[in-house]
Amino acid sequence: MVDLFKPYKIGELQIRNRFIRSATTSAWSDENGIIRYEMIPHYEQLAEGGVGLIIKGHLYIDPRGKAHAGMAGIHDDYVVPRLRELTDAVHRHGGAILAQINYGGYQASAGERIGPSDYRGKDWNARAMTTNEIWDVIDKFGDGAERAISAGFDGVQIHAAHGYLISEYLSKHANTRTDEWGGDLKNRMRLLKEVYLDIRGRLGADTVISMKINCDDFSRDGFAVDEAAQVSHAMAAQGIDMIEVSGGGIGQEDKYRERARHTDPSLSEPSFAGHCEKIRATTKPKSLALVNGFRTKAAMQAVVDDGVADLISMSRPFINEPGLVKRLKEGQGVVNCIRCDACEADSVFSKEMLRCRIA
Ligand SMILES: Cc1cc2nc3c(=O)[nH]c(=O)nc-3n(C[C@H](O)[C@H](O)[C@H](O)COP(=O)(O)O)c2cc1C
Repeated sequence: MVDLFKPYKIGELQIRNRFIRSATTSAWSDENGIIRYEMIPHYEQLAEGGVGLIIKGHLYIDPRGKAHAGMAGIHDDYVVPRLRELTDAVHRHGGAILAQINYGGYQASAGERIGPSDYRGKDWNARAMTTNEIWDVIDKFGDGAERAISAGFDGVQIHAAHGYLISEYLSKHANTRTDEWGGDLKNRMRLLKEVYLDIRGRLGADTVISMKINCDDFSRDGFAVDEAAQVSHAMAAQGIDMIEVSGGGIGQEDKYRERARHTDPSLSEPSFAGHCEKIRATTKPKSLALVNGFRTKAAMQAVVDDGVADLISMSRPFINEPGLVKRLKEGQGVVNCIRCDACEADSVFSKEMLRCRIA
């Protein structure tokens, strides 16, 4: 049985256990993308509560790619001092923290909706990017990553999931380009690879670079697990340090979500364990994390013991219980979070600090 509470190494970064707080935006930063001072105690509590690695809620690398009101930025040097206070607070309590860097793409509701192709959403339209715009975005990911390191982050996570720009390029549903950025999978993953190589070139071999990827976008005709496994394999070969497996994106239909679940009852609690196991079988990642749906310590233990993933990642449970990892260590078996999603309700999101309505 693997001890989930023993230190673990992601690349050159030693973390104190196998638990990750997955990226969770409070959507409550000021209009210039500076995080509010009140967020620092929240991150301090998470670090005090024993979590091994925190991934900061997504940060936009360019205001054009701002996904929603209240999103924090890493697009300019003026955001650095406040972020430095946040990373210092985490480090003071023995935690480690990555910056998740993102570009909204079709979902840039507070920026400009651009993406791989002309695309019509429910109540919005997006336009296809020019080649110059693509290279500009790659450069800005690199700038954002460098800025994150200057703000004290231990590394970065490239957001390549959840229907934002990079995952749009990966999906043949969202990406209908016919140039070298679309078509076969090699072309559709070119943006992700170029972003990674640019960042690696700037940060060097020893700094952790992770990516969050969809195991499936749950669309009828988009990105599914076979391609997720191929992309993960290719990125592992490039040297990415940690892959976090998530799911859901452009064209998503809820009825397809069940295809990611594991059929073994001991592994069926986390939503995507079935797909994660397939990715693990094809990929040789240095470290693989699984997120979505964990509630019991038994399921967390089973996922690691069965080799489905190396790391347990959670978001909503930490909103109610920032000290969750200490509690699990002391014997608590079930998280308080009931996945009611009140933390994402319109009345909360973008308006105030992360709060759990069941507390
Ligand atoms: C309030 C809220 C904000 C989130 N913000 C982000 C984010 O910034 N980046 C990201 O990749 N995922 C984000 N997520 C998704 C979570 O990281 C996670 O993938 C999802 O909630 C499933 O994990 P869970 O069942 O442990 O909550 C957010 C989720 C919630 C509830």
